[in-house]
Amino acid sequence: MSDEPDHYFTANPASAAERRSLAVRLAGRDVEVEVASGIFSPGRLDLGTQVLLRTVPPLGDVLAARSAGSGAHVLDLGCGWGPVALTMALDAPDATVWAVDVNERALDLVRRNAERLGLTGVRAVTPDGVPDDVAFAALWSNPPIRVGKEALHEMLLRWLPRLAPGGVAHLVVQRNLGADSLQRWLVEHLEPVLPGAAVGRAASAKGFRVLEVTAPAG
Ligand SMILES: C[S@@+](CC[C@H](N)C(=O)[O-])C[C@H]1O[C@@H](n2cnc3c(N)ncnc32)[C@H](O)[C@@H]1O
Repeated sequence: MSDEPDHYFTANPASAAERRSLAVRLAGRDVEVEVASGIFSPGRLDLGTQVLLRTVPPLGDVLAARSAGSGAHVLDLGCGWGPVALTMALDAPDATVWAVDVNERALDLVRRNAERLGLTGVRAVTPDGVPDDVAFAALWSNPPIRVGKEALHEMLLRWLPRLAPGGVAHLVVQRNLGADSLQRWLVEHLEPVLPGAAVGRAASAKGFRVLEVTAPAG
């Protein structure tokens, strides 16, 4: 897999010559997206991302159950070219989907892909581009494990407390890259910043775990 740390910080938007099409199936639809080198998994839908997207409940249903349709905000943390954010937006076209990454090339591709698919609710921004008062009804992520534990933990402690009351986060992590120890770490460290949160495992498949964090109903 192409999850190398140098992809995270270096790339500028790709030129037309560098961009290419990729046919993928997202939210039950066959779509064409644009990808480029210098971002995570540009050649295919990453296996971990596939496991995540097969595990999460359809976002439209989640938001309908919360009566949070058009006003809802949701987050794809570490969006890459956007498979997770685009799936969220296809499932819940009235929601505001924050697609967050530190890689400008990835963000540019997400914007292009959202426009191509007519998904006007997608906001592709760097971490500081999300207004402080936004709380997320759902947070889906294939997080950048390879940035190292310290950076990963910092990132999770920054974003998980921003779940709305009753909001749910799903994080896919490779078992042999520390999914189980991350789950234990979350149980231990989330309480001070998100009191009453429940941490569990939603799925285990193909060498990946999908961890689930549920914020208290408030
Ligand atoms: C494992 S990749 C997943 C990409 C995409 N969601 C997918 O499924 O193909 C993790 C992503 O997190 C991004 N990332 C790294 N550090 C980050 C940070 N501090 N905040 C947000 N995203 C970050 C990387 O640039 C990379 O695109």
